[in-house]
Amino acid sequence: MKSIIIYESTHHGNTKKLVDAIAKKHHVETVSIENAESVDLSGYDMVGLAAGIAFGKFYKRMEEFAMKIPSGSRVFLLYTCGNPSAGYVKNITRTLTSNGARVMGNYGCRGYDTYGPFKLVGGIAKGHPTEEDIAGAVMFYDKISGEK
Ligand SMILES: Cc1cc2nc3c(=O)[nH]c(=O)nc-3n(C[C@H](O)[C@H](O)[C@H](O)COP(=O)(O)O)c2cc1C
Repeated sequence: MKSIIIYESTHHGNTKKLVDAIAKKHHVETVSIENAESVDLSGYDMVGLAAGIAFGKFYKRMEEFAMKIPSGSRVFLLYTCGNPSAGYVKNITRTLTSNGARVMGNYGCRGYDTYGPFKLVGGIAKGHPTEEDIAGAVMFYDKISGEK
């Protein structure tokens, strides 16, 4: 299984913690969104898109990158957010599937959030992602990759 995860984790590095834990256990390449344009994604069995959530969607750059995923790709989604909602994957999933990619599944958990008014109260989802949140991401990858 040749996999790559493209990540965008600019707020507190929360999402990157999930990515790093997966890459520690599995043979997975990781590339930041800034360097993703030059990668030939057709050479991978699975492509992961990992980002924080802003205004109810994956970060804008990742939502845009999803439009360029080649048809036929097998894609999985990872995200962290201050206030969980299953709807955060909706837009990017629609983009991917309408371009012929297959979305294998998604994993999301809370991530420390100090955006806007939350900063005044010291942020929300403090301490997240926790060890348990991170372990959940690794288990998710174990499952969709079929690798233990
Ligand atoms: C500009 C901005 C907008 C955000 N909007 C949302 C949101 O709509 N819903 C949510 O649950 N979290 C929101 N968050 C919180 C982040 O998604 C959360 O802290 C995430 O873990 C950040 O991931 P990162 O550290 O990997 O960038 C927002 C954060 C920022 C900076």
